[in-house]
Amino acid sequence: MGGYLNDAEHDILLGPEAIQARVRELGEAISRDYAGREVFLVCVLKGAWVFLADLARSLTVPAFVDFMAMSSYGNATQTSGLVQIIKDLEQSIEGRHVIIVEDIVDSGLTLRYLVDMLKTRRPASLKVCVLLDKPARRVSQVPLDYVGFEIPDAFVVGYGLDYAGRYRHVPYIFILKPEVHPT
Ligand code: IMP
Repeated sequence: MGGYLNDAEHDILLGPEAIQARVRELGEAISRDYAGREVFLVCVLKGAWVFLADLARSLTVPAFVDFMAMSSYGNATQTSGLVQIIKDLEQSIEGRHVIIVEDIVDSGLTLRYLVDMLKTRRPASLKVCVLLDKPARRVSQVPLDYVGFEIPDAFVVGYGLDYAGRYRHVPYIFILKPEVHPT
């Protein structure tokens, strides 16, 4: 699994095969639940783009994809609690079957804000699909309809997730050692 980083920098949590298999299962579950309907996937940038790309291609129902960007952690590894829309959707979600596709839920503040805000736009339905659920530091409870993996309280990167813009391209998920990300 080498070639991306020094071994000293990482501890692999989820390998590429495990991720691919689970994403396929999520795609199958969504396809079953939404049979006969078109889903509107809201990809939360930037972290969810890799997950979205694989998830969307595993769907057998028609899908419409749009993107949204929220304020993120910046270079720190803990949430500030401040959430801001940096880029809004280009299409209306009114009357659509919306699924928010998010990379990871930690405090839950980002998702809580997003769910409440999108509900005011009157979608026909609104569900949440997250790859990683980190429940240890949850502050705001948000129902998660589709979850890839529950993970321990560690800062993880890879498969779209970054630290200071790095590691998003790595095809597996690993725990970034604290000495690499001093906070
Ligand atoms: P929350 O608002 O605390 O739930 O944080 C959600 C956002 O924080 C995610 O969309 C990620 O961008 C970022 N985040 C939370 N935990 C991690 C992590 O372990 N690695 C990388 N980004 C993370």
